[in-house]
Amino acid sequence: MATEIRPPRRDEMHAYYRVLPYANGLPQWEPENAAWHGGPEPWPPQRAPATAQQLELWALDHEKDPSFHPVAAFTDGECVGASATISFEVTVPGGAAVPMAGVTSTAVLATHRRRGHLRGMMQAMFDAALRRGEPLAMLSASEGSIYGRYGYSPATHRTRWELDRHQAALLPAAPDPGSLELIRADEARRLWPALHAQVRARRVGELTPLSDQWDGLSDGAEGTGGAWRHLVHRDRHGAVDGLARFRLPWSPTAADAGTLVVEALEATDPAAYRALWALLLDFDLTKRVVAPARPRDEPLRWLLANPRAMRVTRQSDNLWARLLDVPAALARRSYDSPGELAIAVDDDLMCPANNGTWLLHAADGAAASCTATDRRPDLTVTTAALGSLYFGGASAHDLAWAGRVTAHTEGALGQLHRMFRTDPEPHNSFGF
Ligand SMILES: CC(C)(COP(=O)(O)OP(=O)(O)OC[C@H]1O[C@@H](n2cnc3c(N)ncnc32)[C@H](O)[C@@H]1OP(=O)(O)O)[C@@H](O)C(=O)NCCC(=O)NCCS
Repeated sequence: MATEIRPPRRDEMHAYYRVLPYANGLPQWEPENAAWHGGPEPWPPQRAPATAQQLELWALDHEKDPSFHPVAAFTDGECVGASATISFEVTVPGGAAVPMAGVTSTAVLATHRRRGHLRGMMQAMFDAALRRGEPLAMLSASEGSIYGRYGYSPATHRTRWELDRHQAALLPAAPDPGSLELIRADEARRLWPALHAQVRARRVGELTPLSDQWDGLSDGAEGTGGAWRHLVHRDRHGAVDGLARFRLPWSPTAADAGTLVVEALEATDPAAYRALWALLLDFDLTKRVVAPARPRDEPLRWLLANPRAMRVTRQSDNLWARLLDVPAALARRSYDSPGELAIAVDDDLMCPANNGTWLLHAADGAAASCTATDRRPDLTVTTAALGSLYFGGASAHDLAWAGRVTAHTEGALGQLHRMFRTDPEPHNSFGF
């Protein structure tokens, strides 16, 4: 059997989509408790196989999209594996937007699994991303056991928490000088891009939006999911400094009734953040608030009179990161603490140019540099551990205890921690 890994041609795109769960109706995520998503509706939502007309619409869209790079595995001419990268920019510590290959829509036909097709497609995607000058790859993993072998490791996280409305009093604060307004979806679609651009510039892990990122926002109800509602906060001068999106799902069970689900809440100012939460936590005719995909370090906890009222009901990895070009990636972020470390990498089979010792130098206020060195390494770090450390959300200590970071010189682990850690933690408000 002859196997070929290459981008699908235009006339092969329908066969390419048919491999993918989102087009063929098969599950695309490990079974999860519906509660993760807030409401009582089934998750993942059921999908019927896409019609030929839908497949053609996707093909037309993708044909016009220069950021979409599909790759496929063919066996004897039949498309048996499919994946793609989307070219994004991701905010790294210090605020730079770094080109990133977002790996998405990955599957191999059940009849052709465990024969190395994913590995072949991943290698092709890494090589192409490097040629485009993207020093990072990221993805969200349908199962936690698949992607570590390719050098990916969790970089951002999401937390689902819930709160009883009657325990949700906030500590007293000065009156809000701004104002809140419920708006229609068309206005929300207009306002989100500018607000997100401000959030993205400050938050490590945030991505450039897709061209249709907010097109799906509506005022209507989807199944039992409840109608969307959109809320805006403006400062005293009328400038938008916060937006939220929530819904009140219909429920057949008394336990789930009266739940308000916060799908999104972003603010550029602490007063706007507080005002949005204050309204959502005390919404008439509700008894519970669920926020399914929030950062691990949510300031709301510190606004509550009773911090225990906010219960974390699930925590999970979100985006996984993989450094494709170690020196380029390390030089693109900044480091809170100045310092110098010689970091050895010796396990990268897929991007072999990363193996070596890299001298990372970060001076106060200056751009960091990262160059090959003959110096004795201070630390050896696995390729995957670098993906977690890079965005600043992982503990150097924990990785060392897990054997993924090995310190060779006195004080190197503490220096790694001080240089790499970020506050607030990396987070992305949407994936891909
Ligand atoms: C996940 C998937 C794409 C892997 O494709 P594949 O061609 O079978 O993968 P490969 O043969 O290249 O496997 C590479 C390695 O990963 C392992 N692996 C692959 N899928 C795995 C899984 N679900 N769980 C554990 N290990 C897995 C293989 O055993 C192999 O291990 P090895 O390198 O030690 O030999 C395929 O199983 C699939 O389509 N699954 C259903 C859809 C899905 O989960 N898609 C992922 C969306 S993010």
